[in-house]
Amino acid sequence: MDQGTATSAIGGTADCFYSRAGTAILPMVVRAEGIRFWDEAGKDYIDGSCGPMVSCLGHGHARVIEAMAAQARRLDYAFTLVARNRPNAALAERLARLAGPGFERVAFGSGGSEAMERALQFARQYAVATGQDKRTRIVTLEPSYHGATIATLGISGDQSQSAFYRGFATISETVPAPMPYRRAPGQSVQAQEAASAAALEAKIRALGPETVLALVVEPIGGITRGGNVPTAAYMRAIRETCTRHGVILVFDEIITGIGRTGPMFAMEHWPDARPDILVLAKGLGGGLAAIGAMLAPAAMVDRLAELTGFEFVYSYNAHPVACAGALAVLDEIEERGLLANARARGRELEAGLRALAAKVPLIGDVRGCGLYYGVEIVRDRATGESLPQALRPMEKMRNQALAQGLMVYARATSGGKYGNWFMLAPPLNVTATEIAEILDRLERALRGFAAEVAGLPAA
Ligand SMILES: Cc1ncc(COP(=O)(O)O)c(C=O)c1O
Repeated sequence: MDQGTATSAIGGTADCFYSRAGTAILPMVVRAEGIRFWDEAGKDYIDGSCGPMVSCLGHGHARVIEAMAAQARRLDYAFTLVARNRPNAALAERLARLAGPGFERVAFGSGGSEAMERALQFARQYAVATGQDKRTRIVTLEPSYHGATIATLGISGDQSQSAFYRGFATISETVPAPMPYRRAPGQSVQAQEAASAAALEAKIRALGPETVLALVVEPIGGITRGGNVPTAAYMRAIRETCTRHGVILVFDEIITGIGRTGPMFAMEHWPDARPDILVLAKGLGGGLAAIGAMLAPAAMVDRLAELTGFEFVYSYNAHPVACAGALAVLDEIEERGLLANARARGRELEAGLRALAAKVPLIGDVRGCGLYYGVEIVRDRATGESLPQALRPMEKMRNQALAQGLMVYARATSGGKYGNWFMLAPPLNVTATEIAEILDRLERALRGFAAEVAGLPAA
């Protein structure tokens, strides 16, 4: 049995491209069901974060599998430039109804980065078609993450990648994201958010409002901010700034959409700060369907269709099998009341994490909502001092968790500039017993991690 795939002479698994420094060999998983994976040796791992917040119904969900298989047998593919398909129509209508007024039209692609690209393309094409040709600038928050294509990497506020971008990708303009755990001494959450909102206003004015196309934000912090939740006042402030300057507000809900934070969409937390464009992926396909979506107002889409049209088409647009899978995901969530389950289990998860934080001094912060929590690891809770990146703390944590049979989404972002955290985001149908099991394995992993770090030199 070949476990060392990263060093195979030819071929290799995806991780053969990853940095070798300090990387443990990943388990070769061969089976998955519910919240569990099994590797070739029969060891089980709980998927504590649905991979990167993807498998929102757990693994091997029969309803979704059946829906996709039945669709594939009936109609496997239809190119959107030459034919329409029913699952496309049904899913667009379903999502538009769920999202409500202002999101009547939906474009589907094969994942998050592609859906995000589509939002940028759409915003730009709309500006060009409506005589606002100067609007080319994208503003994003620093730090943030919006995808791994060249354009979406360019708008992901991660200065640690500047050597890659330089002279190669178009970089967005950034303003500081509110980072409540990393406030200046004496600064309140409200003051930090007000400064961030003021920086946005100043940035747009400095660039010239007529040149700014869109503000792209993850409404609740993704992997680069570890689940921090802004206040309604901040969300209202950025909404008002965009409206005042004719800037399109895009919510990247690739993680937070489809029930992850409690409601179906995170935007429902702030009803008076709705975006103009909503981008979804990950949970929408439940890990089985490779699908992403961009939702936009009929007023914009229909006007653009009259003017120039918007015809940047990908071959896998509105794939009938992927759309059928996403419809089954939504059926399951709605018919089984999984949003209520996610909120109830989320409260248990949060309580358990806070209890763990009281026992494990390395936990600096627990934040999030719904079934989406970030746990920040620090060297010193009193000062919030981070562990040095040279120790590769998140990799160590991931490996300690794997040793205890738990998978968590943990990676260093922004070169560790803003700290280190891992994400817990079990499926929306997780049970109370499974939450307890996750917490139990996590506690053992954290104790192992604390012992490992304590035995290491400071840097
Ligand atoms: C907030 C956010 N936007 C965009 C993406 C890119 O999505 P995908 O990996 O499906 O291309 C991700 C992926 O992690 C994400 O977290």
